[in-house]
Amino acid sequence: MSARPETSAAAIRLADYTPPAWRVSDVVLEFDLGIDSSEVTAHLTLRSEVDAPLRLDGEGLELLSIAVDGTPLDPGRWRHTDHVLEVSGMRDGSVLTTRVRVQPAANTALEGLYLSGSREAGFLLTQCEAEGFRHITFFPDRPDVLARYTVTLRADKARFPVLLAGGNPDGAGELPDGRHWARFVDPHPKPCYLFALVAGRLEKIERDYVTAEGRAVKLVIWSEANAIDSCHYAMDALEHSMRWDEQAYGRSYDLDVFHVVATHDFNMGAMENKGLNIFNAKYLLADPDTTTDDEYKGVEAVVAHEYFHNWSGNRVTCRDWFQLSLKEGLTVFREQQFSADMNSPSLKRIEDVALLRRAQFPEDAGPLAHPVRPAEYREINNFYTATVYEKGAELVRMLAGRLGTEGFRRGMDRYFADNDGRAATLEDFLGALGAANGIDLMPYLAWYGQSGTPRLRARGRYDEGAQRYTLTLSQHTPPSASQPDKHAVPIPVKLALFDRDGNMLPLHLDGEACGTETVVVLDASERSFTFERIPHAPVPSLLRGFSAPVLLECGYAPAELALLLTHDPDGFNRWEAGQQLAARAFDDCRTGGAEALDAWSSALRQLFVEPGLDAALLADLLTPPGEIELAERQEAVDPAQIHELRQVMQRRLGRVIGAEALERRYRELYAPGPPALDAAGKARRRLQRRVLELLALVAVDTAHALADAQYRSASGMTDRLAALGVLVRGGAAEATDALADFRRRHADNPLAMDKWFAVQAQIPGEPALGRVQALEQDPAFTLKNPNRARALLGTFASGNPSGFHRADGAGYRLLAERLATLDSLNPQIAARLATAFNGWQRLEPVRREMARQALSDLAGRPGLSRNLSEIVASVLS
Ligand code: ARG
Ligand code: ZN
Repeated sequence: MSARPETSAAAIRLADYTPPAWRVSDVVLEFDLGIDSSEVTAHLTLRSEVDAPLRLDGEGLELLSIAVDGTPLDPGRWRHTDHVLEVSGMRDGSVLTTRVRVQPAANTALEGLYLSGSREAGFLLTQCEAEGFRHITFFPDRPDVLARYTVTLRADKARFPVLLAGGNPDGAGELPDGRHWARFVDPHPKPCYLFALVAGRLEKIERDYVTAEGRAVKLVIWSEANAIDSCHYAMDALEHSMRWDEQAYGRSYDLDVFHVVATHDFNMGAMENKGLNIFNAKYLLADPDTTTDDEYKGVEAVVAHEYFHNWSGNRVTCRDWFQLSLKEGLTVFREQQFSADMNSPSLKRIEDVALLRRAQFPEDAGPLAHPVRPAEYREINNFYTATVYEKGAELVRMLAGRLGTEGFRRGMDRYFADNDGRAATLEDFLGALGAANGIDLMPYLAWYGQSGTPRLRARGRYDEGAQRYTLTLSQHTPPSASQPDKHAVPIPVKLALFDRDGNMLPLHLDGEACGTETVVVLDASERSFTFERIPHAPVPSLLRGFSAPVLLECGYAPAELALLLTHDPDGFNRWEAGQQLAARAFDDCRTGGAEALDAWSSALRQLFVEPGLDAALLADLLTPPGEIELAERQEAVDPAQIHELRQVMQRRLGRVIGAEALERRYRELYAPGPPALDAAGKARRRLQRRVLELLALVAVDTAHALADAQYRSASGMTDRLAALGVLVRGGAAEATDALADFRRRHADNPLAMDKWFAVQAQIPGEPALGRVQALEQDPAFTLKNPNRARALLGTFASGNPSGFHRADGAGYRLLAERLATLDSLNPQIAARLATAFNGWQRLEPVRREMARQALSDLAGRPGLSRNLSEIVASVLS
């Protein structure tokens, strides 16, 4: 089905929550699957203690028959409007049977039952979260209705040899006319958003796993035949995740089989359907020739994330969609812990904080800002945001930090025990964590209910006579339209004090010795903390490990930040000091200052030659905040100028380090032969790329020649794409041949081709638009595939500020037009891409007016989906 216009949707409010009048204890589903037309029979055992009409959700369903307790239902007893099936006179324990028809191949929204790939070779699959199940059958489509599922699939055996649904297998067999069937029973009651099926021609790899509790589990990963060899890395990641959850949280898997399926047609990253995870191929397939190091990490992280949902999401689910962060924030946090354990904790923290600043802080600062637990929504799919996921994870991290490792584990054990098989709330979560530790955590609810990034101000005063250092912390969250008065939230500030030689000082707070690092909690608008026995004025290191998701305002002298950047024993805190210093260096470039720019570049020159410094950490230290982050610190944003100045500051860094030193380092790092996938190999490639990028700013011909040679000799995607990126973004003459070669080499691999589109969408400045328009005409481009649309249009609009924000507004108009087209195919993707307009109000006046015009033209188009119209209306407000 394609999207229907649903412009006047009413807001749904958390405050209006009421428990369901009717529940469903058992669901028996039968599917007669076909590509153009599939029939779905549902037998629902209905339960209610109140005398209310039964109302079931259903969209785009052709109702074929309806019966109660086996008897066709009298037409006077039911009514079927656009989105609702209403049945009167139902009794507790009655079984309602409906039979409907849906059209998978016509479903371009990729929600409900749809076709992935071609009619001839593709397969059928489902995506139900958040509200896709209502596109499959009539049902109370809300997460607090938990039922046991028995699912029978029937289909032509030659066309659909593999039939999968969630739960344990419960028989299979032949049918007349070349058809066959398979049945699955899920013993764990679940909400319908966790339902899934897959049917088609798929290959598999398998592994036997035995849980800590002794259950034998068959792990199976499925993909289309040509990709099955790229599933082994994901299988390893799955096994590691399962073991880790047993060890870190005492959580074991609870079915006999665990299926994972890869598809190239998926709106999101992946989906944790019970016993049948479905993945965007981008987060499942991996092989060195087509997958970069960062993408490998992404596969490991998303496999873990979806697996961890089996407890944080499936065994304990959400009462309503306002509680989404209960499962998403918690599961992102659990994945962050896992990835830190598997790789380097400081690199993982750097990556996560950088993502938070790049994606969540801008969201929280603009018209799309919403609390981690929103108060209302029109289209829930618009709330799978960086705020709900990443800020939500930061809130869990604060709670975990407050309770300590053992206390948090105790609290999580309590949470799982008290809420297993339930649809829970954030209050249940905070309540369990607190109760298990005898601590009231409810003050943290303030974080969940309030949007905006708090500003944390720090002022230090040193009293030499008293050998005393007083740190005064205060907080302020700027008002927003829906929340004019923001409240103070508890802010844990992990801190250390450094002496002038860069050593950490012993801390004595309130008469107690507390080592060299401690946490103070700012639980009011302002508080002071006094440290005794401090021999001279210290340099404070605040918010260590990024102990709270806030913006720190601290009047550091550049030399103090440089001291922390060069001396802090902790990699993350070094990086953090470097980021703050780099932001100040950027200001110097703008204003003609020199102090911070000098301090930053000479500190990094020193680190560049420091023996023993981890290569990956050095690469990150050498990377200043991105253009999006830098724009956040400015008024009247001119993205072209920000791009230019950021180049200027990096060129300055390159000069200070020196072209020769860069080239020498590049050659030292060069390693021919197949890529080593261990940490050392990844670190080497990360630094090599960064060094090449810096070299391109100070010795462009040398750098392009090196990049060209690297492109030709690269045996893995990380090095090949890094070289291609330097050539393409640098406008090198060699770029044309390299792009043609890449295309030839990877024409058959959609994920590699996405990178081919994306790298060109990143060309800085005015030329980007023309390139994007040309690429839209490429036969390999299609708006129908979400990954492809994101690779070209998403990268251009959200990942290339100087290209998208042309002063003539042509970037805005292009995006607005494509959104209108895309909206009629896939509203979820259109709405997601539209968030690129966030922040337009803070542009300089010329661009601001261009953006406003493009947006209001888009808003004025008739028939926009609920998804897109909500985003456009919010962004415009
Ligand atoms: N629950 C999935 C996850 O693991 C995301 C699914 C979101 N789907 C959607 N249509 N909004 O994060
Ligand atoms: Zn998730």
